[in-house]
Amino acid sequence: MIDQLKNIEEELNQAEIKTSEELAIFYKYFLSKKGKISLLLYDFKSLPAENKRTVGKPLNLLKRKAEELYDAAKEMLEGQSQENSRNFLLDPQKIEIGARHPISVVKNRIEQIFRYMGFGISEGPEIEDDWHNFEALNFPPDHPARDMQDTFYLEKGYALRTHTSSVQVRVMETTKPPIKTISPGRVYRNEAVSARSNSFFHQVEGLHIDEGISFADLKQTLYSFVSSFFGRDLEVRFRASYFPFTEPSAEMDIFLGTETEEDKRLTKGTGWLEILGCGMVDEQVLKNCGIDPNKYSGYAFGMGIDRIAMSLFDIKDIRDLFNNDTRMLNQFVAE
Ligand code: PHE
Repeated sequence: MIDQLKNIEEELNQAEIKTSEELAIFYKYFLSKKGKISLLLYDFKSLPAENKRTVGKPLNLLKRKAEELYDAAKEMLEGQSQENSRNFLLDPQKIEIGARHPISVVKNRIEQIFRYMGFGISEGPEIEDDWHNFEALNFPPDHPARDMQDTFYLEKGYALRTHTSSVQVRVMETTKPPIKTISPGRVYRNEAVSARSNSFFHQVEGLHIDEGISFADLKQTLYSFVSSFFGRDLEVRFRASYFPFTEPSAEMDIFLGTETEEDKRLTKGTGWLEILGCGMVDEQVLKNCGIDPNKYSGYAFGMGIDRIAMSLFDIKDIRDLFNNDTRMLNQFVAE
């Protein structure tokens, strides 16, 4: 009987239970009424008393071992099937789908509209030299915009660009007219950070140089742009302004009206919202960049993306755009 016990133990050690069918076979073979262990127990009853003593303990241990193997395998199989149904049916894994950043949404829309109007896209470096950010654009050495207040200066005469107008200069220096391009990008100013202004923001610069370009072309282009961007015929107005690199210079406002609370808030009760600066490229700037002002003329404009995104999406604090809080960023549809 001890030999039989050893054989069964050997068989138990080799038993593998990976499916519920195998579990049923295991039960039938070892533990059911006609199973090997039950039959041994049956034989055990008719053993003489002194043999019972030596066989009893190992026989009990064998039975317990078989039951433990059975229970463990059963538990494992039930757990597995629960997991399967959890993964595939009850509790699908959450997948985070990214969203476009509001600045990108606005930038892409602006780019698309200007592309339709025949503009190309150009970019320049965020670390600029004095020539491209200031000097070529007619900023005299003592101009207040060069002041430490406004510009982040770096080593060796470099600075973080304060506007995308630096890209105008780079394009004009390297391209023969006709030139028709927009330059989106990030710019930096050393200003106090608040809900309305940040130490960096985003602009789109526009530049169109050709023979016979006039202020009328500038007005028509910008008018087409804003009606397309806001999806309706908007009244626009140009106010005389000053930039060192354009002459004449203007700022353009759009009329949103004061009917809704939203429009009232955005326009501070006037109905008008300022959206960009523009003008005819100054003759001296053309010369600085190697373009003959007797042959060519052109216009330039620059608009801030962040303010437009804020008014479009009703974002109250500019800093919310760059906190990288996904609860905020996931509100914008992926485009
Ligand atoms: N660079 C100007 C600014 O940052 C905007 C501008 C661009 C004005 C082009 C005129 C022409 O305020």
